Amino acid sequence: MKARENFGSRAAVIMAMAGSAIGLGNIWRFPYILGEYGGAAFILLYIVASLLVAVPIFFAESIIGRRSRSNAYGALRKLAPGTRWHWAGILTIVSPLLILSYYSVVGGWSVQYLFKSLSFDFTSAPAEAVSGYFGTFISSTWQPILSHTAFMAMVAGIVLGGVKKGIEKFSNIAMPVLFVLIVAIIVYSLTLPGSAKGVAYLLKPDFSKLNADAGAAALGQAFFSLSLGVGTILTYASYVKKEENLIVSGLGTAVSDLLFAVMAGFAIMPAVFSAGIEPGTGPGLVFETLPFIFNRMAGSLPIVSAIISIAFFVAILAAALTSAISMLEVGVAFLTEEKGMKRVPATLLLAFFTWLIGILCSLSFGPMSGVRILGDTFFDFLDHLCSNWLMPLGGLVFTLFVGWKLPKADVRDELTNGGTCNRVLYRVFYYLIRFVAPVGIVVVFLTNLLL
Ligand code: PFF
Repeated sequence: MKARENFGSRAAVIMAMAGSAIGLGNIWRFPYILGEYGGAAFILLYIVASLLVAVPIFFAESIIGRRSRSNAYGALRKLAPGTRWHWAGILTIVSPLLILSYYSVVGGWSVQYLFKSLSFDFTSAPAEAVSGYFGTFISSTWQPILSHTAFMAMVAGIVLGGVKKGIEKFSNIAMPVLFVLIVAIIVYSLTLPGSAKGVAYLLKPDFSKLNADAGAAALGQAFFSLSLGVGTILTYASYVKKEENLIVSGLGTAVSDLLFAVMAGFAIMPAVFSAGIEPGTGPGLVFETLPFIFNRMAGSLPIVSAIISIAFFVAILAAALTSAISMLEVGVAFLTEEKGMKRVPATLLLAFFTWLIGILCSLSFGPMSGVRILGDTFFDFLDHLCSNWLMPLGGLVFTLFVGWKLPKADVRDELTNGGTCNRVLYRVFYYLIRFVAPVGIVVVFLTNLLL
């Protein structure tokens, strides 16, 4: 059998894991979910959900992945032979592909916005035309499907390149560029008239805005943002070398992910308030706000604005790609290792299947917007199903597996690298994995079902 590939260095591990974690979830999803649940109070809830539930599950997945050196499905079978634990692995094959199908639609939006930036449309058109563009674009039939197709083709192309040449190289360049650009946008956004209201929205918690769904939404966002419960982190951890410190790379990923989300909030919300846009308008929020920022900026700094807008959409696209490739990689690892398929057909098959479902998601903003499942459009239904249910469910399986099934000595061995580091942290995380994380997920599930 061919030897499995590994990530080259610690920096590469963090970059690739952070590449999976940091994506549209931080820049597109976090600001609008935040807007729907009232700002600062939701951020606090989100941080609690991340620390007590999501980060421990990140470690649970890392432990399973590196211990087994296997894809998500094979891992559970290898570590618990003769049991039914690996049935849960099926969830991890299906969920990331479902997520990818609608993620690719939003990825397509960023492709389209990059083209609009390249043709200077946001910086030269009148302000009203710029803010109204999003609605016209997503409700049309062909253009968004074409953009979705372009995005999906890029994802498949990178995954075909394999772990080292494709995923690792790509993440290393994209993430630092994105970071610098977000800082630039924050600085500009804070200078806009009326931006102080946006800052207050992010910093002054108003707990009366939190409703019964907020807990599930916070947990769902934490899972989505850290790519948890669907086997992505597990699969990436299976490429991590034995000497690597799992706690350091995990915390590095989680902290940078949180930082990017909060930074995106500070880049977007002041501009949202300045533009008089409603913060709770849903999935279009960032795509309506960014062109507004670039258009305003163009008044005083036309060239700078055009350059920043192009660079920003390149970076968003890159961030979206590093996340999307991790979703596809889970299924590809499964088909190549468990079913003996070659990498090329496995990648093409899964990409095609996902692309088809994505078309329905794209149409649900336009011709199919009247088709509702439990009151949601197809796009929203898939997003709620995956983030609020399937991802936490997968996380529950992983945390129970590591907390209660895997021998304690194995868990200690992985988290402390054979007792050489992190001994105190290991105790804290073992407790969170065994008790706090599973109870947290079950409580949120029950609240959601009963209220
Ligand atoms: N964490 C990614 C983001 O925030 O954009 C989304 C994601 C990646 C979800 C990989 C699930 C996944 F398996």
